[in-house]
Parts: sequence; structure tokens; C-alpha cells
Amino acid sequence: MVDPKLEEVIQFERTRPDVHGDAHPKKLLRAIVEEGNHLAKLSEQHIFSSDQFDRATLLQLFRLAAKYEANPGRFSTSLNGQILISAFYEPSTRTRLSFESAWHRLGGDIMSITDRSTTGIAKGESLRDVAEMFNNYGDCVVLRDSNEESVREMMAALRIPIINAGNGTDEHPTQALADLYTIFKWRPDLVTNEPGEKLKLCLVGLPAKMRTVRSLLKLMCHFPDVFSKITIVNDKQKNEMFAHGQLAQLEQAGLQIDAANDLYEVLPEADVVYINAIAWEGNAYKQYGKRYHLNAQSPLKSDAIVLHPLARSVELCTSLDDTPHNWYFSQARGAVFLRMALLTCLVKRAERVLDVI
Ligand code: CP
Repeated sequence: MVDPKLEEVIQFERTRPDVHGDAHPKKLLRAIVEEGNHLAKLSEQHIFSSDQFDRATLLQLFRLAAKYEANPGRFSTSLNGQILISAFYEPSTRTRLSFESAWHRLGGDIMSITDRSTTGIAKGESLRDVAEMFNNYGDCVVLRDSNEESVREMMAALRIPIINAGNGTDEHPTQALADLYTIFKWRPDLVTNEPGEKLKLCLVGLPAKMRTVRSLLKLMCHFPDVFSKITIVNDKQKNEMFAHGQLAQLEQAGLQIDAANDLYEVLPEADVVYINAIAWEGNAYKQYGKRYHLNAQSPLKSDAIVLHPLARSVELCTSLDDTPHNWYFSQARGAVFLRMALLTCLVKRAERVLDVI
């Protein structure tokens, strides 16, 4: 007989609360009418910045992601014969593994580089020349590099698509896609002709420095009808929170942007709380707004959801993990399906999965 103490630690449950199930992606799938033509242009583009998306393309991407999430076992051969080059020169749990999981789940093959010193870059090879070689070896590249310019340099020589998976403090567009996908999965009514109440979003972070926040705000510019107010919470003055031109872009898009230093003043009215505390700068991460913490006792609205791009530190207490506020795990899980959708479009395989119920 197995020792009861051992039995206790080795047992696990495969089922989790509903946010991890397929009810929400099914609702989102039904809420958006398929117009696959909006996805066609993605097969001619690198994925560099959130600025390159429009509302119609975003909604169709979310629809395809929801289709994948609602039917996870049905599309296992869509990327047969395709090779992904996964190049991550900065630490990553979610982005690298979810891209690789997405590609594997669609039946593709992967070559992975996690240390640039194992490539010709260590011998002084230029990124342009590396990119020229990648053209011959794979069908799509995913790059994370702390150097903001690396992805641009490679784009100039690539004839296959490359995805910016985080370039310094600049952008992380696929994280932002996953973030917005999560919000619409939670509230699919917001993309229908009969939307419910608009959302008040509390964003704890520093838009000027955080690539996840920067990319997410850019995507939100397409949905001023969804967000009634976005309040940025940080310990800085409003003019220090934003990079040059950032606030103007948001306001021109019709978003109402407020700034606050007191988190607990903003929390009670927020429908969505997005929190992040780190930015990757140079070769290390830096923490911002260390005094802002969320836990199960924080004055959240009873039906508010909490999002976090992760990795977390003390700002997001594990006491929230087992509460209905926890949508950050669903956010991380959904990123696989969102990336499946994007990858399918980039390598011209969307026609294989559109119109498939
Ligand atoms: N969200 C995100 O970029 O996480 P990783 O650094 O683990 O990829």
C-alpha cells in the first residue's frame, strides 16, 4: 500500500473551475461572424508591433483562437511539413513554450535556439546573415531579444515571417493579443451588437517602460467603445508614466486615460485589473511600482477579473489563485490558442481551418 502521505502529494485533479474550460471560447466563437478575408494579409507580414493590427483583423484572430480553444484536438495536422525557428536570447517560460506548444499542437516541427553563443553570432556573424540562413531552414521565426533593433535587422533580410516575441522595453504584441483575447473571452457580449456595460480598466504598471503594457494599450486603441476608462496606476507623475507620443495616441483613439497613485482608490470601481511589475532593460529586469500589491483581501469588485502577463513577484499574491478573480492563468493558457491562430495565418494555412466547425 502506498504511504498515505505520499498518496496525498502525488494525486492531482485534471478538472479546474470553468474559466479553464471551453464554455467561454465557445461563446466568443458564436459572438464573432467569420470573415476570414481579414486574416489573409497576415501571410504577407512580419509581426512586429501592435500598431499593425486593425479591429477587424483582431476580431477574426480572436475568433480563430476561440475555435482552436473550443476544439483543442481537431486541428492537429494544420502545420504538417512546416518548420518553426524559435530563437529566444532572453529568459522566457510562457512565450517560448506557448509558441512551441502551439506549433506542435498543429503538427509542425521546431528548431530551437536558446543561447546565441551557440550560433555564428558568437563569431561576429551579423543578424542579417543569420536571417538569410533562416530563409533556407524554416518557414517562420519567433525572436525574443533584449536588443530592440535585432528584430528590425532580421526583418530586413527575411523572406519568411518573423514574430517579435519581446524586444527590450519596446513591444510584445502577441502577449497583448493574448491579453485582449482573454478580456473578450470573459465578456463576449462586448463584441456583439448588444454589448453590456463598458469596462473600467485599472492598469498597474508603467506604459513608458513595459513592453507588455505598451503593446496592450496600442491594441485597446481599436476598442474605445469597450473601455469607458483606463486608469494607469503607478508611483510617478502622469507625465512620467508615458513615453513620447504614447498618451496622445491613446487619447486620439478616443480612450479616456486617467492616472492615479493610490491603487486602493481605483480598485473598487475596476472591472478588469491588469498588473505587471517588471520591465526587461538591457540584460536584467527592473521592478517598478513595488508598493502596489494585490491579494485576496484587496478591495476588488466581486466580479472583477485580474490579469497579469507573468512572471509574477510579490505584487500578485498566490491567495488570489483560487478565487474567481484569477483570469491570469486562463490568460496564459489562452495564449497557446491565440498563437496557434496567428501562426496558422502567417504560414498561409488559414484556409485549412476556416469554415471548419
Ligand atoms: N509574458 C511573458 O512574456 O512571459 P515570459 O517572459 O515567460 O515569456
